Amino acid sequence: MHVVRSVAGLSKAGIFEELRQQLTGLLAGERDGLANCANLTALIYGAMPALNWAGFYFIRGAELVLGPFQGQVACVRIALGKGVCGTAAERGETLVVPDVHAFPGHIACDAASRSEIVVPLVHSGRLLGVLDLDSPDPGRFDREDAEGLGSLVRLLLAGSDFERLVG
Ligand code: SME
Repeated sequence: MHVVRSVAGLSKAGIFEELRQQLTGLLAGERDGLANCANLTALIYGAMPALNWAGFYFIRGAELVLGPFQGQVACVRIALGKGVCGTAAERGETLVVPDVHAFPGHIACDAASRSEIVVPLVHSGRLLGVLDLDSPDPGRFDREDAEGLGSLVRLLLAGSDFERLVG
């Protein structure tokens, strides 16, 4: 059984190091992409402060479709190029949005959200989806979050199979 250690008192760098260790432990026994994404949302939501949503969207044709998440009920389909998620997916780059109300075309799933970060899942040059985190605090996410989440996504992608999730 996987034991999730407390992150109380850790710095942001310390939380990401702990998350990397926890994720490495989870990936050691399992390559199912859906299961690993589901557990990673729980790890992130439990460890990173000031979040109101954390989850995945997977690519299906020209749309992103909702995957495992923690938080309130969310919109299911997002067209590529739309919203923060669709824009990050289309560009293939991480987007840090300090004020979602200032982002043209932002899709409000939870009215409490004030800032957002979206990290694309790109494996061997192929777009698989995105990891999306929302916060009720303005300016919650910075470069350190982008790098920390990017390293978690790289671990996830190297240790999981996504063939049955994307299309
Ligand atoms: N805000 C996102 C939509 C997804 S929810 O935040 C969960 C966007 O603009 O793409």
